Amino acid sequence: MPSSSSLNQLSEEDQNFLNTLVEKGGPEPHEYSEFAAIVNNLEDQELEYFRNVIRESLDENTLIGHGFVKPFGYPGDFTIIHNIYKVHVNPDNKYGNWDRFFQNQAGAQAVRNRKDYFLKRCAEIDNVSGEAKHVLILGSGPATDVNEYLQNNPHSKIKFDLVDFDQNAIDFAKKQNEPFKDSIKYFKINVLRYKPYQWYDLIWSAGLFDYFKDKHFVYMVNKYYKYLSDGGEFIIGNFSNSNPTRRLMEVLSDWYLVHRSKNDLVRMALEAEAAEELVEVEMEELGVNLFLRIKAAS
Ligand SMILES: C[S@@+](CC[C@H](N)C(=O)[O-])C[C@H]1O[C@@H](n2cnc3c(N)ncnc32)[C@H](O)[C@@H]1O
Repeated sequence: MPSSSSLNQLSEEDQNFLNTLVEKGGPEPHEYSEFAAIVNNLEDQELEYFRNVIRESLDENTLIGHGFVKPFGYPGDFTIIHNIYKVHVNPDNKYGNWDRFFQNQAGAQAVRNRKDYFLKRCAEIDNVSGEAKHVLILGSGPATDVNEYLQNNPHSKIKFDLVDFDQNAIDFAKKQNEPFKDSIKYFKINVLRYKPYQWYDLIWSAGLFDYFKDKHFVYMVNKYYKYLSDGGEFIIGNFSNSNPTRRLMEVLSDWYLVHRSKNDLVRMALEAEAAEELVEVEMEELGVNLFLRIKAAS
């Protein structure tokens, strides 16, 4: 239970409002802005009390609760990413509103948009004439993005190498991609230690570098971009520091990312010895997910 001193940290009105949300399984659309305003205004020292008020909703039955509980020991695991892609909502009324709220956030939409961005890059690669093409994915998670691509492009000539250090993620990815097993190889290893054995037309990583400190980010760019084939690209997704869902992720799911600006991404690419003319930054349509693109040196 919260201590009596922390009882003063939310107004009675806010507490009553939060209690009704818990009772009805989360906010309804007309309550989103009121709920978001409470969350966005919370100070760090108020988090424990706030989370106690909504504790019943912070379990694995909700997406925000899954984020909070971290059943695989880290935030952003393969199940939550898969559920964001599939716009999953718990059919149980006791929880469904929370999931609808979560899926409605710009951060969740940006994750779906980054998948679409990846699908477009793969289609471009497939359109280039020639033999088999090679794509390396760092921190591949559920590989739902690869699944969607291969379902929609059964004659793709892309061979995917997927690297992830979580055996559960690899197992999940393998199972759902069983029909495409001839096109995918799996490597269960930390990306910091993986040694590429060939050159790639695309090295893709989303939902990974925004957990790295700058020095690891730079190390990873420098380590991998040498493995691009002629005309190849290294593309890294990173949440932008204008992510409007940042505080909601931190407060509701204890999910902290290193948010970065375009300039941060370019600066780190240059620190990693990429040539300036080969570096650019794009974004998905909401501007919440940035993509650092580094072209192969010729
Ligand atoms: C947020 S998920 C993103 C999954 C996928 N890239 C996507 O966007 O759909 C991050 C994945 O990276 C993996 N991961 C995190 N740190 C890693 C590391 N140092 N080496 C290998 N995998 C890592 C996690 O196990 C998780 O599956």
